[in-house]
Amino acid sequence: MKKLVIMIALLTFVGATVAIAADSYTYENSKGTITFNHKAHQERVKGDCAKCHEGAPAKIAVNKDFGHTTCKGCHKEMNGPTKCNDCHKK
Ligand code: HEC
Ligand code: HEC
Ligand code: HEC
Repeated sequence: MKKLVIMIALLTFVGATVAIAADSYTYENSKGTITFNHKAHQERVKGDCAKCHEGAPAKIAVNKDFGHTTCKGCHKEMNGPTKCNDCHKK
């Protein structure tokens, strides 16, 4: 019984500290709004978080460099969208 209580306490603690990613994120900028479907991308890479995250998955500051290097770079390799308007929608 005591073990069970400790287990529950631990699980609650873990649940409270691990960040959960949203299903999708949008970035508005001068070139047009980008919608990044995080959930679909997780499935696409078959759960290999390291394709985008270094170490334990946490927030990434998505900027132009990340977008045009990591996002677009993988799209070139995996036949994802690479045209400006594929990502940037007006
Ligand atoms: C295709 C790239 C990509 C893959 C694959 C990916 N992520 Fe992410 N993830 C991102 C980006 C980009 C962000 C930042 C989104 C933002 O805040 O603008 C992010 C954010 C997160 C966050 C932080 C959420 C927050 O707001 O604090 C968590 C947690 C996370 N991802 C977990 C995962 C896990 C777990 C996996 C693997 C099962 C995974 N991600 C796979 C790109 C990816
Ligand atoms: C590890 C590889 C990988 C990374 C990194 C990646 N993508 Fe993708 N993405 C894909 C693939 C593969 C597709 C195409 C899937 C298809 O056509 O079935 C795709 C499709 C898309 C699409 C089309 C809509 C959709 O979700 O199907 C958008 C928009 C997109 N990605 C935006 C982004 C953005 C923005 C980032 C960076 C924050 C990013 N992607 C990072 C692999 C990746
Ligand atoms: C794979 C997706 C993708 C493709 C393809 C792509 N971009 Fe981007 N781009 C991004 C992301 C992600 C950002 C950063 C978003 C942000 O900071 O709001 C960005 C940022 C930018 C910015 C900065 C906007 C600002 O206000 O700071 C410009 C300009 C831009 N892209 C132009 C282009 C042009 C031109 C092309 C085609 C040659 C292109 N992009 C193709 C994903 C992409």
